[in-house]
Amino acid sequence: MKKILLLLMAMAMAIASGTIAHTAERDPVKKAIQARHAVMILRSWYAGPLFGMAKGDIEYDADWAGALANSLKAELDTTDRGMWPEESDYEAYPDFSRTLPEWWLDTDGAEEAEKAYASAVTQIAESAGGGLNAFRSAIGDLGKSCKGCHDSYRTE
Ligand code: HEC
Repeated sequence: MKKILLLLMAMAMAIASGTIAHTAERDPVKKAIQARHAVMILRSWYAGPLFGMAKGDIEYDADWAGALANSLKAELDTTDRGMWPEESDYEAYPDFSRTLPEWWLDTDGAEEAEKAYASAVTQIAESAGGGLNAFRSAIGDLGKSCKGCHDSYRTE
């Protein structure tokens, strides 16, 4: 019993000191950048098969398409507060951040890009599971809204 307790304590200390959790960042700004990357990776995880179905690389599956689109929609209800701190652009964090300084300078434009994305996601969530035609009518805007924001606010 004592041995197990000691082992657990040693593990907790190792995790706290960062020797096990090698992906844990100490720099709070890097942590925030990692969190926004996680959101983007999740978006692309859900949107990827939808784009695949649109291209015909993957066979359209109404249930799956609906579930993927609803997952994108659910992510919109999560908060990104603190994920985009000032001074976390690609110049401040080269090799880590790809966000252009314009993201913070052109806040109106960035807000517009987010709104366009939210509206495209709402649209695809309503139509993705409703048959191939409905799905096709909405998928274009989704792709455009990801790309639109990346073109304006993300480096190559
Ligand atoms: C409103 C703006 C915006 C929208 C909408 C948006 N992105 Fe992004 N995305 C960004 C920015 C900015 C970055 C760069 C983040 C960084 O590295 O600081 C990024 C980064 C990414 C990355 C790279 C993540 C990494 O680990 O480096 C992927 C993948 C991605 N986005 C996919 C998507 C997909 C797919 C969509 C649409 C379903 C989408 N994004 C919608 C702004 C956006």
